[in-house]
Amino acid sequence: MREQDASAWDVWGAARQGRKETNSAGATTWFNWTQWPDHGPDANVLGNLSGIRALDLGCGSGGNLAHLAALGAQAIGVDISPVQVAKARERWPHLDVRQKTAEEFLADTAYEFEAVCSVFGAAWFTDPAELLPLVHERLAPGGVYAFSHNPPALEGCYGPQASQLPSPEKGAEPLYVKRWDYRPDRWTEILQRAGFTEVTAEVIPPPDGRRTGTLLVRGVRAS
Ligand SMILES: C[S@@+](CC[C@H](N)C(=O)[O-])C[C@H]1O[C@@H](n2cnc3c(N)ncnc32)[C@H](O)[C@@H]1O
Repeated sequence: MREQDASAWDVWGAARQGRKETNSAGATTWFNWTQWPDHGPDANVLGNLSGIRALDLGCGSGGNLAHLAALGAQAIGVDISPVQVAKARERWPHLDVRQKTAEEFLADTAYEFEAVCSVFGAAWFTDPAELLPLVHERLAPGGVYAFSHNPPALEGCYGPQASQLPSPEKGAEPLYVKRWDYRPDRWTEILQRAGFTEVTAEVIPPPDGRRTGTLLVRGVRAS
């Protein structure tokens, strides 16, 4: 377990507001790949979820995981942060949430998943050289892996980056975790090298009046 990362995410998570009770369409659960409310594609990116086994890596307080379960998936969420896991369990007691790193969970589990997702989650904050073989191994043939996060913050700054988490306390020392930034074409190459097929990597444009889009990467385990 990466204790320093877990405690940084605990501090960050404790200061975060939970997901709203309903979205603009009045739904009580929904999937959001982007950092903007009511924006971007829905859970269809992962295929038909009814009855399949699905995994959310870095599920946080459980908003997207709750929607996977509502769509009929046998959904498991994994998060490194005890605070985030407690929040998810409190709001959605029926969810299966494990407090582990994504890497530990994938290395230990005997399950095969038809869909694995990560929204601004473990896929961004774990070395892809370590995570991708583990995800590929636990995906069922034809299974989908999709993840989203910000596009690279600065042209030329690729690979592992120091990622500052906003500290909730004024004047407190900043908290840092590592994240991995790549351009879409490089993510495509990385997934293909890890054995994924049908790989797409594209930036979802931001809503009007916003500057930052969302990078969405998707690949399939060959049948
Ligand atoms: C920015 S939050 C996103 C949470 C959630 N996916 C969402 O969209 O609201 C990132 C989450 O990833 C978790 N995380 C970071 N690294 C992780 C790892 N290696 N394994 C599992 N969880 C991780 C953090 O604890 C945090 O809850």
